[in-house]
Formats: sequence, structure tokens, C-alpha cells
Amino acid sequence: MKTIAVYPGTFDPITNGHIDLVMRASRLFEHVIVAVAINPSKKPAFTLEERVDLAVQTLHHIPNVEVSSFKGLLVEVAREKSAQVIIRGLRAMSDFEHEFQLAGMNRHMEPNVETMFLTPAEQFSYISSSLVREVSTLGGDVSAFVPSCVVLALNNKNSLNLDEK
Ligand code: COA
Repeated sequence: MKTIAVYPGTFDPITNGHIDLVMRASRLFEHVIVAVAINPSKKPAFTLEERVDLAVQTLHHIPNVEVSSFKGLLVEVAREKSAQVIIRGLRAMSDFEHEFQLAGMNRHMEPNVETMFLTPAEQFSYISSSLVREVSTLGGDVSAFVPSCVVLALNNKNSLNLDEK
């Protein structure tokens, strides 16, 4: 049976830390689905289409990786895609409690899907999408943390926001 893993997140925007995890997962599983959540409660800065597009631009060179979007429950996506595994990243102990709850709830809803945690390379352990957005909005250089297409998208968004003010 083909081993399929789904890696969900808001990816607002995708960072080098996310990419590091996708690369690791792509070496472990035959097929990896990067599932971009609509997640309206987080009020994302980038639209769903923009977040998917940036993930596709960044990951298209990895043959066994697919990018898709979803609304609704993650376990439904896992079922639809016949995934046996949900991948989540653990950067620090502070991620653990939230991730433990998500994993428990997902297992309750779908006992046939296992959550597996991967840790990113050390240099990515303090990155988050919201920090990247904040630093970029305030004029800081984020090119060490995100791919060049994301730097460009952030710069465009920042100049649009300035024009609106
Ligand atoms: N490198 C860099 N940053 C990382 C990272 C990594 N390897 N792993 C996580 N992060 C960051 C993200 O950038 C994000 O930062 P932000 O909060 O500043 O934006 C944060 O860690 C965690 O976000 P993310 O990975 O996007 O997860 P999330 O908590 O926003 O999303 C979902 C969680 C989408 C998986 C969850 O909401 C979900 O499953 N939704 C579907 C509905 C559902 O099934 N609900 C029931 C769940 S039990």
C-alpha cells in the first residue's frame, strides 16, 4: 500500500521551516499532500489562492509532493486522500501542548490516521509565519526565512497596504 502523508497548516505564508519539513516528509513517505487550510479564524494576510500559489511555486520541484487546499475537518481530508499519516512540525516545547490536543482530537475522530511529528533544522526553530509577516511589514529583511517568491509577495502586499493608507 502506498504510504501517503498529509501536512496541514495555514501557511500564511509558507516559510523555509515549512519547506524543511516537507523535504523531510518527502523522503519518508511515497506521497506528501501539503494541505492549506482556509482557517478564517486566523484572518490570514494572504488569500487562500495566494497561499496555495506560493506553496506550489516553492514545492513544485519535489515530484512526490502535491499542494491542495481544504475547508472543514482535517480528518476528512486524510480520509478523502487515503492518507495514513498527518505530519505536524514541533519547533519547541511551546508547540507541544497545542499539538498534543490536535493529535488527540484527530485520533478520536479518525483512529486509523496517525499523527507524526517532525522537527525542523535548528536554524528554522524560531521562525513562524506571523513573525515573518511582522518583520517584513516593519521593513526588516526576511530573505533568510522565506523563499524569494514569498519575499516578493510580502513586498507587494506591504506596498499595497501602504497605498491604501
Ligand atoms: N517552520 C516554521 N513555522 C512553522 C513550522 C515550521 N516547521 N511549523 C509550524 N510553524 C508555524 C506556522 O507558521 C504558524 O505560525 P503563525 O501562528 O505565526 O502563523 C504556527 O507555527 C502554527 O501554524 P500552522 O502550522 O499553520 O498550524 P495552525 O495551528 O495554524 O493550523 C490546522 C492548524 C490547520 C492544522 C488546524 O487548524 C486544522 O486542522 N484545521 C482544520 C479544522 C479541523 O480539523 N479542526 C479540528 C482539529 S482537531
